[in-house]
This record gives sequence, structure tokens and C-alpha cells, in this order.
Amino acid sequence: YKPSLFCVSRRYCSSEMDLITQAKQSAAYQAIDNHVKNGQALGIGSGSTIVFAINRLAERVQEENLNVVCVPTSFQSKQLLTEKGLAVSDLERTPSLDVAIDGADEVDKDLNLIKGGGAACTQEKIVASCAKYFVVIADHRKDSKLLGEQWKKGVPIEVIPMGYVPVIRAIEKKLGGKAELRMGANKAGPVVTDNGNFILDWKFDETKDWKKVNMEISMIPGVVETGLFIDMAQRAYFGMPDGSVTFR
Ligand code: 5RP
Repeated sequence: YKPSLFCVSRRYCSSEMDLITQAKQSAAYQAIDNHVKNGQALGIGSGSTIVFAINRLAERVQEENLNVVCVPTSFQSKQLLTEKGLAVSDLERTPSLDVAIDGADEVDKDLNLIKGGGAACTQEKIVASCAKYFVVIADHRKDSKLLGEQWKKGVPIEVIPMGYVPVIRAIEKKLGGKAELRMGANKAGPVVTDNGNFILDWKFDETKDWKKVNMEISMIPGVVETGLFIDMAQRAYFGMPDGSVTFR
């Protein structure tokens, strides 16, 4: 599947969007159907793909009378879970999770991820680290051989607001590329995370040793967390435009 070069009419573009929506839904449904069992504690991620996972989870809980408890990774997912009447917990009460399910911005061949497109990477990483099994759900556009091949917006990095300029300087000096403060709608102000911090997007020049890069960025004073999820995911489902799902 390749997006059309002739995406000129609004109708055609919206049907391509429908295929992507369909792909997200297929991946999300497959993950919920394959990995959720009665009695589990679940980590529930953030983003547009996770909306389908929450919908499917709510259906299964009702139809099969499942008893599951969910730890959300953001205000968004907490609200969605609450709206759907699903049992919500947190890591104080439920620090050990059976499965965490989350979206991703890019997934490489070894299941390393770039996450944080929705500015929730810190809580997503904490929740995923508490799970015995971490499952990624995404549409086919997120599937890549090497990080940076598909996702062109860079690696999200959550930073303490008063330190964002020194962090930008340190990243660019150590690792090259360009780091930018993520701005909100109409550039009215910086995006503020659920933790009250800012997000930098670091555009890198070339493929790197991501484990090393992740450690180097994490060591910079003022960095809270990076959107590089290295050696964390065990399974990824990719929805295809025809509704089928591939995995690895
Ligand atoms: C939020 C995330 C999301 O999981 C990621 O951006 C994917 O989002 P979507 O499902 O909308 O493509 O990391 O911080």
C-alpha cells in the first residue's frame, strides 16, 4: 500500500484516512482479543489507536463479564476508560501489570520504538516498564526497518521547563541534529505535558546506537524521559489498509 500521489480531491483523501482508521482499529482489536484475559491488570496507553483498544476492551468486559483493572498513561486515556465504565487504577494501588498496550510513532525491526507524539511518553514508559508483557498497536505507516525512516518529527523528550534551553544545547552538542521546543495550537505557547513539563522534538541526522543515545540524553540534567523505548516491547501489531493485521 502506498498513499496516492494524486490525492487531490477531498473525497479521495478522506477515504485514505478511512483506511488508516480501519488499520488502527484492526490492530487494536487483535491485540485486545489476543492478550486480554479475565483477572488481569492492564496498562492502557494514549493516542488515537488506543481509542479503538479501549472500545474493544469495553465490549469484551461487557460481553464476557471480564474482571480487569486498567492503569492509564495519560489524562486522555483515564477519561476514555472512565467514560466506558472500565475499572481505573494507578501504580500506587496496582504497581504490577500483566499486559500494557500502547500505540507508537515508529517501530523498528527489533521492536524499538519512538513514542511521545501525544506528549505522554514519560507516563507511557513508566506504565510499560511495570508490565510483564508490552504490546504495541499501530497502523502500517509506523512499521519501519530503522528508527527515523518513517517518523520525521524526531524523538520526543520531556524536559523540566526552566531547563529546556540548556537541554537543547546539550543534545545538539553531544549528538548533533536539531532539538526544538514543541509548540501548541497556533504556536500560542509550548505544549505542556500531564506532568507540567515541556516536550522537545529532536531531529537526528542519521541512524544511531539507540540504546546509547537514550542513555546519553537521559543523563542530561533537566531531561525527565525520552520517547525512545528500547528493548521494551515484546509484540507489535500493524493494521493494514485492507483490514488485515501483521505482527512481529
Ligand atoms: C503518545 C504516544 C502515542 O501512542 C503515539 O503518538 C501514537 O499515537 P497514534 O495512535 O495516535 O498514532 O506515544 O505520547
